Amino acid sequence: MKRRHLLILMVSLLSLFLFGCPPQETATTTGTAGAGDEIPVGEYGSLTGSTATFGQSTHNGVTLALDEINAAGGINGRKLKLFTEDDQSKPEEAASVVQKLISQNGVVALIGEVASSRTLAAAPIAQKAQIPMISPSSTNPQVTQIGDYIFRACFLDSYQGDSMAKFAANDLKAKRAAILTDVKNDYSVGLAQFFAESFKKLGGTIVAQQSYSEGDSDFKAQLTSVRAAKPDVIFVPGYYTEVGQIAIQARDLGLKQPLLGGDGWESPKLLEIGGKALEGSFYSNHYSPDDPDPVVRQFVDKYRERFGVLPDSLSALAYDSTKILAEAMKRAKTVDGPSIREEIARTTAYKGVTGTITFGASRDPIKSLVVLEVKNGQIIKRLQMDPPGMPTASAMPTSAPTTTPAAGMPYGTPPPGSSPTPTVSPMPSASPSASPAASPMSATTSR
Ligand code: PHE
Repeated sequence: MKRRHLLILMVSLLSLFLFGCPPQETATTTGTAGAGDEIPVGEYGSLTGSTATFGQSTHNGVTLALDEINAAGGINGRKLKLFTEDDQSKPEEAASVVQKLISQNGVVALIGEVASSRTLAAAPIAQKAQIPMISPSSTNPQVTQIGDYIFRACFLDSYQGDSMAKFAANDLKAKRAAILTDVKNDYSVGLAQFFAESFKKLGGTIVAQQSYSEGDSDFKAQLTSVRAAKPDVIFVPGYYTEVGQIAIQARDLGLKQPLLGGDGWESPKLLEIGGKALEGSFYSNHYSPDDPDPVVRQFVDKYRERFGVLPDSLSALAYDSTKILAEAMKRAKTVDGPSIREEIARTTAYKGVTGTITFGASRDPIKSLVVLEVKNGQIIKRLQMDPPGMPTASAMPTSAPTTTPAAGMPYGTPPPGSSPTPTVSPMPSASPSASPAASPMSATTSR
């Protein structure tokens, strides 16, 4: 008898683990979301591992938003309770922690991941369990194609790749481009393709295509081939750790061409790793913290006050994602996966830090992009590109993608260990007296 009970218990635990269960039921059995109680929400990300700053910045953005939501009364009187899981920058871990968040913590919605490969590994589990997931920053087109429970708060790599190709061809007058792809990374592979397609359409030639894998540290062979092909620019759609090392080794080999990249470069560690070797390089990103928009100013101020550093784009996207989720939860008939999903899908013209967000039928917002430049050891905004048909209330021309030159405010995050007190500027050179830019924002960002 005893053994039979044990068997039944094991089978039910196993099925719970494999298939999850209806969110409300889970929530009730775990006692976390009874009426008037807290509502469990899950977050999963790379708090450790090769892309640790992605997860850490995202976590800061999520907690900042969540505390604001709770301080303002939560979801119709019920507070949100955050369960955070570290996937160690590994796709298989992402899948298992999402399973855990759903079946053990009974979360009714999920925020995550940053890296497309990890979101792609975890999203099918959320989709199957009918738990809506908002990826703040996974840009690979396939992410939201997993199913109708999967959303994202960022633009897509098709747009990002096309924009960087236009920037290379039109602004840098490049005719020949080399590409260095991280072949095990869905994001990198996709972005490389989109860049190449657009660059060729613009009359350019891809003169070299080399590959590496995350975790590699010697890129000399690939860069030697790149050098032989004499490119005008080198496109490196990877993540910051490898990009920094690639930059150093490229300069060691005498390559002086600008390196170009996508949002995967975004990290307070980028310049720490790549240093001077990145000077004169460019990458596309989701926002710039020196944007004069009041929504951005307020967010940047609050973030700096709490964390002592400037928020990178991951923090900003995480903040927007969490706020969008909370708004949807407030409107939802019941606090369960299907009802919340329905309301997230209805999000229209949400005015976020990273732009205006509307989820169309594809659950992909159409948003602007900024091109950042590494200049004098700072990361500054070079220009903004607005996609055709972008749903904003602004009087921006909407025909071809437009470029707006930036004011040139320094942008970046301080080295780790900086004082969290707002009296110490995390960006010494951004102090009003030292700031090269006569930007109206100098006083605010260098407080
Ligand atoms: N867009 C990247 C991906 O999909 C992740 C990323 C977003 C990294 C924003 C840095 C900043 O993999």
